[in-house]
Amino acid sequence: MRRLVRSALFTAAAVAAASGPVLGQTAATLEQALPEATQALAARESVEAREFMVAAAHPLAVEVGHDILARGGSAADAAVAVQAMLTLVEPQSSGLGGGGFLLYWNAATESLTTFDARERAPAAADEGYWLDAEGEPLSFWDAVVGGRSVGVPGTPKLLEVLHARHGRLPWADLIDPAIAQAEEGFEVSPRLAGAIADAQERGLDTFDATRDYFFDAEGAPLAEGTLLRNPDLARTLRLYADQGAAPFYEGAIARDIVAAVRTDTNPGILELEDLASYEVIERAPVCVEYRAHEVCGMGPPSSGALTVGQILGMLEGFDLREIGPGAEAAHLLLEAGRLAFADRALYMADADFVSMPEGLLDRDYLRDRAALIDPETSMGQAEAGDPPWEDAHLRAPDSERPRRGTTHFVIVDRYGDMVSATTTIESGFGSRVMTGGFLLNNELTDFSFRPEADGQPIANRVEGGKRPRSSMSPTVVLRDGRPAVLVGSPGGAAIIGYTAAAIIAILDWQMDPQAAIDRPNMVTLNGPSIIEDTAEGAELAEALAAMGHEVSLRDLNSGLHVIVVAEDRLISAADIRREGAVRGQ
Ligand code: DON
Repeated sequence: MRRLVRSALFTAAAVAAASGPVLGQTAATLEQALPEATQALAARESVEAREFMVAAAHPLAVEVGHDILARGGSAADAAVAVQAMLTLVEPQSSGLGGGGFLLYWNAATESLTTFDARERAPAAADEGYWLDAEGEPLSFWDAVVGGRSVGVPGTPKLLEVLHARHGRLPWADLIDPAIAQAEEGFEVSPRLAGAIADAQERGLDTFDATRDYFFDAEGAPLAEGTLLRNPDLARTLRLYADQGAAPFYEGAIARDIVAAVRTDTNPGILELEDLASYEVIERAPVCVEYRAHEVCGMGPPSSGALTVGQILGMLEGFDLREIGPGAEAAHLLLEAGRLAFADRALYMADADFVSMPEGLLDRDYLRDRAALIDPETSMGQAEAGDPPWEDAHLRAPDSERPRRGTTHFVIVDRYGDMVSATTTIESGFGSRVMTGGFLLNNELTDFSFRPEADGQPIANRVEGGKRPRSSMSPTVVLRDGRPAVLVGSPGGAAIIGYTAAAIIAILDWQMDPQAAIDRPNMVTLNGPSIIEDTAEGAELAEALAAMGHEVSLRDLNSGLHVIVVAEDRLISAADIRREGAVRGQ
């Protein structure tokens, strides 16, 4: 039997083990990269609707999304309104200073597409970007706080592109509710208040604009229930409503961003040209067959669809329905997870910059990988496989850290169009640098800090103009070529495990979506098996420890939002671990 670590927090040792070889991160700094605590744990039930539905991470965002859908807006329209509102009311997680990935189902053409609005490194960045004068990697939080971690934001352009393609209502009508709310103010939620207090010791009060917004005159973090107005964001949004995304990439806001990233410590090198040349990229979805469904998601620069796809592809050969939810299934899920994470660390990055094996989802390859799973005993740490790859390169694996921040929303409109989107500013409160009433991301810390290990290049090293590898996994599951399930979550690298587990609960065990996401979370990044610290989770952990898993019990703060598209209705659920909501009609 292996060690059972019981802790509300990751121990430094568990984090180090979870990260495989910890490249350039001391255990102490990793220990600081803790996800925020779960806040609201009230029981919920799935919500049903006939015509349209929206689920997102804050009730005010859900309300505005619902209003837009009720007025005849499309899923794209609602996504614009939801994201504009989230910038205001869930500022720690996503916003106009960040990026994301969005899947769009177009009912008229019966087609699924993906939009890559991932932040991009400045053209002048090179592989030494995160190394100090001695050639050693910066510590994580030294890298996060300040303009150097800021990549070119993708979200402003994403929403514009989405509306241009699929919008039905006037653009300004979608932004106006967030402008009004920013002027009127909104109540600081328990989760936001907790996040501000937590982030104070991680540099949230470093820069004037950010300190003035999130702290009171005495320097205390804003309390829950405080009415918070954001006139600077109202002005930014008004410009956005009038002129679209252009000011963010070529105009006044672009100049403000370039000036804001030149912080005294840890300054950025973004230039106006980096912003002007930014494009949202439409890419084909990456899909894997699973139980007569196609599970589709975001390809590189996200590792999401490939890693979720590998896990499901490996589990396809196990009769999970017969096995049922319990320790045996948890063991299989975690073992498949460690094999998939080993491949992810070695091979996955922005495929526009590095060549990646074509065969990561090859059925024979995944069958061979699945054969490495012993149904009774954990393999411990997995090694990467050798997937079909014509242009094989030697590579070194990189490491992974647990994170916080990020948001997922799902929308179905009355026309049958659908959105599954995950957006982020990376860590909670991003780089801590604020301009125009919104926070700038720290997405560039998603790159590997070291460019190479053991003399071999790391696929996810920094390169000029490259997009850092993501774990975000907005997913659309198709049955007979049409959407059956929309799902995704925040949670850093744990997103992959949360998403795979939710899909299994819904497809294999036919669970109602709320029951599916209420189950204890369990993830591995190819180190310890991390199990959510609940009564049920603790039982599971005991059983897994008996199967040789090194188990760590802790808070696992997913933010899963799901819509199941049944024959005659929509059934939706919001994660009880966060403050999200669901509304439909
Ligand atoms: O792109 C990624 O994978 C990360 N920047 C996402 C961060 C995240 O989900 C934080 N979560 N709570």
